[in-house]
Amino acid sequence: MMSILDRFSLKGRIALVTAGAGPLFGSSISQALAEAGATVITASRSLEANQQFSESLRAAGHDAHGMQFDLSDPDSILQLHRDVIERFGRLDVLVNSALTRDGHVGNLESQNPEVWMKAAGGDFSGLFLICQQFLPDMVKQGRGSIINISSIYGVVSNDPTIYEGTTMVQPPTYNFVKAGMINFTQYLACYYGKQGVRANCISPGGYFNDQPKPFLDQYCHRVPVGRMLDNEDIKGAVVFLASDASEYVTGLNLMVDGGWTCL
Ligand SMILES: NC(=O)c1ccc[n+]([C@@H]2O[C@H](COP(=O)([O-])OP(=O)(O)OC[C@H]3O[C@@H](n4cnc5c(N)ncnc54)[C@H](O)[C@@H]3O)[C@@H](O)[C@H]2O)c1
Repeated sequence: MMSILDRFSLKGRIALVTAGAGPLFGSSISQALAEAGATVITASRSLEANQQFSESLRAAGHDAHGMQFDLSDPDSILQLHRDVIERFGRLDVLVNSALTRDGHVGNLESQNPEVWMKAAGGDFSGLFLICQQFLPDMVKQGRGSIINISSIYGVVSNDPTIYEGTTMVQPPTYNFVKAGMINFTQYLACYYGKQGVRANCISPGGYFNDQPKPFLDQYCHRVPVGRMLDNEDIKGAVVFLASDASEYVTGLNLMVDGGWTCL
């Protein structure tokens, strides 16, 4: 029988992380998967940024590769799928972390249908299409783990009081796509579970990113653990859900939120 630590190992597994070179969650997720032994592919709009990041992982002794794609462009998703399968022959782990931030601007009063369609075009149809492309490969190999990065705001509303004293604006499109992502994940879990494919969400709380002081004070006062997330906080969750340690876990929305949604 395998030891529990062996069950967390990702040796021999191929993992794709969209926006996996991003400075906040993306790079932490990619690093965690690489440290657990996976070959990690990162992809977003800048090929150069992904190649540079994968070089830094290789310099640390890991196996990593940078590719390019645009979540808002269906053709580029099809191309990414072809590139990954041609080059690596399979995909074991798909982490959807990319977010079309430019589709999420302004508060409710200032938004318009065009903004909503932009957010939907990338974050809804892009998520659907990338999952649809890789699912048949995962089904064929009888194994796969899809991990979608949602948010506390996919589960509960923003608390308007924590933004008081700042100019921070919270676009409702964000809550809309993050909530949809959680239920879409449950759909995948139900329809593909018998074929060996698991689908789960991770819903993080707010990442510390030098936000204005009133926000930081109000956020940290409200959240049970008393601080925002940092680089290390998402790593255990992502390796758990990617690996055989979570073999019987599917359809879950794992809150990595310091207790934010307990209140
Ligand atoms: N930062 C937070 O506090 C926080 C909290 C909860 C959840 N999240 C989620 O974590 C994920 C990562 O967010 P983040 O805050 O680390 O990074 P971010 O919001 O700074 O960046 C999003 C990433 O998506 C990429 N991207 C943007 N448009 C793209 C496109 N059209 N095609 C491909 N890639 C594109 C960017 O290059 C970037 O790396 C997101 O899904 C976000 O919703 C973030």
